[in-house]
Parts: sequence; structure tokens; C-alpha cells
Amino acid sequence: MRLPLVELHLHLEGTLEPELIFELAERNGVQLPWHSLEELRAQYAFSDLQSFLDLYYVNLGVLRTRADFATLTTRYLERAAAAGVRHAEVFFDPQAHTIRGVALDDALGGVQEALQEGARTLGVSSRLIVTFLRDRPAAEALAILQQILAGPVPIHGIGLDSAELGYPPELFAEVYALGRAAGLRLVAHAGEEGPPAYVWTALDLLGVERVDHGIRSLEDPALVQRLVDERMPLTVCPLSNVRLRVVDTIADHPLPRMLELGLLVTINSDDPAYFGGYIDDNLAALQEAFGLSAAERALLARNGVEASFLDPAGKAALY
Ligand code: HPA
Ligand code: ZN
Repeated sequence: MRLPLVELHLHLEGTLEPELIFELAERNGVQLPWHSLEELRAQYAFSDLQSFLDLYYVNLGVLRTRADFATLTTRYLERAAAAGVRHAEVFFDPQAHTIRGVALDDALGGVQEALQEGARTLGVSSRLIVTFLRDRPAAEALAILQQILAGPVPIHGIGLDSAELGYPPELFAEVYALGRAAGLRLVAHAGEEGPPAYVWTALDLLGVERVDHGIRSLEDPALVQRLVDERMPLTVCPLSNVRLRVVDTIADHPLPRMLELGLLVTINSDDPAYFGGYIDDNLAALQEAFGLSAAERALLARNGVEASFLDPAGKAALY
């Protein structure tokens, strides 16, 4: 029987496949710096997070209209459904679009419309988590959050992404305080390239309920103990970690150690169009590297359900 999968760390803009980049560039008359799929694909060799982000921000420039955001979202949901995903809590970066002159309601509205349609037609339920770009001013994030809270598109949570080093979580304490006051669920990227200290402050000063990546937590035994004690979920993205050089190869990935330590680890795809695959591809890579047992595969799937923001009835339907 195929396990029902839950995806908790997925950037919608990171599902923009090369073919769709060219399709949307043509649709919108956007001039790309590359002239062919091959030339574009040749850019996908990353040395670190920033080298990936540089390409990610250029490519998402083809997303202009409400329909483009809906197309992006629908293509992801179709691929996720094929992988066995039944529930996805997806990240979306409004600032990456508003700073280019895209209207917030077009971007968020297109995503929201496609998420609702995907639940009906594909059986993939979802939650929308708006992520703020930590390498831009916190005041800008705060203004966007206020605009979203006053606007027509409901969101479920907030997160923090983009370049991590030098941009510690505490810069965004006020944004998270507003999110908490508005009843939103709270997550943040921490401990991907940043040190364990960023995981501590994400927990203590932002009050996050899940840590995105968090794999550098392993460098700090007291932090590991806390994460275990609190059953704090870590949304781990193995292929992303390899492609962004957080680990050398999939065989070097600390997933087995994380499971041994009793951490609540979930497997996710991060930016699948950039990192070599979707959630099923991540699981297959782990399977090949570590020969996971049926019990371990089931545990990872159950962890995804437990770490989700579904209510108890929603979780029970997936266990
Ligand atoms: N890490 C940080 N920021 C991001 C990522 C990521 O993998 N993808 C999109 N924004
Ligand atoms: Zn991410």
C-alpha cells in the first residue's frame, strides 16, 4: 500500500520547471538571459544557498499575472498528487513578486485559487504559509503581513527564508509577534547554513512550531535534547542539502543519525525544480543510500502527518 504523504517544506516558486519558465516568458513577453532550455539547465550547478537564490530570483521574474501564479501552483499539485502527496503546506514569497511590481492580491489570489481547485480535483488538501525574505528589511515584511491580514486571501502561517547567514531570526521578532496575535501558525528556516544559535532564537524569540531544515542543530547536543523533548518537527530536505552543498553526498546525509536521536524528522522537497526531484525522488534517494526499512518509511510518513497543521480529525484521516 502506498503511504499517504504530507509535504511541509516546499517553496511554490521552487517548483518552476525550466519548461514552464520558457512557457511563461513567451506568454508574458519576458526577456530571459538564456536562449535555450540547455543553456538554462547549465545554470543549475550550485555552490551554496546564495548561488541557488540568485537563479531562483531571476527565474521567478516570468510570473506576472494571477493566471501565472495559478498555473505554477496547479502544476506543482499535479506532480505532488502523482507522488502520493495528500496534504501540502506550501511556502510562497510575496515580496519576491511585489518588489517587481506584481500586485499582492494577484500573486496570492492566483495561488489560493489553484490550491482550492487542487483540493477539489486532485484530492490534495493544503495550507498556505507566507514566507518573508530575511535578507530584506523586517519593516518590509511587517508591512506586507499587515497588508495580507487586511486583504481578501486568508493565510495559515508565516515563515522566514532566503539568505540565512547574517540574518538571524531575532530581526523578525515583531513580524512573528503580529503573526501570533493574528492566530497564524509559525515556522522559520533555521540551521540550514546558519548556526545552531539561529535555531535557538527561532524557538525562543519567534516561537516557531516547526523548524525548516534545522540540520545544523546536530552540532549542539543541548539543542538536540530540547528538540527531542519538545517533539519539535524538523522539515528536512535531503536533495536540497546535497545540491546546496550542506552535505557532500546523499550517503553523508545525517538523516539516519537524526532518526536514531529521536528527532521528529519529516522529508520534503524544498525547491524540487532546482534540486533534482520531488518528495518521491527524495524518498527514493534516501532509500537507495540507506536502505530504509518499511518501518522507517512508515515512521517518516507518520511524522509528516504529526508535524502538519491539520486538526486531529484531518490527521486521523491520513494516519
Ligand atoms: N532556503 C532558503 N530560502 C529559500 C530556499 C531555501 O532552500 N528556497 C527558496 N527560498
Ligand atoms: Zn526552504
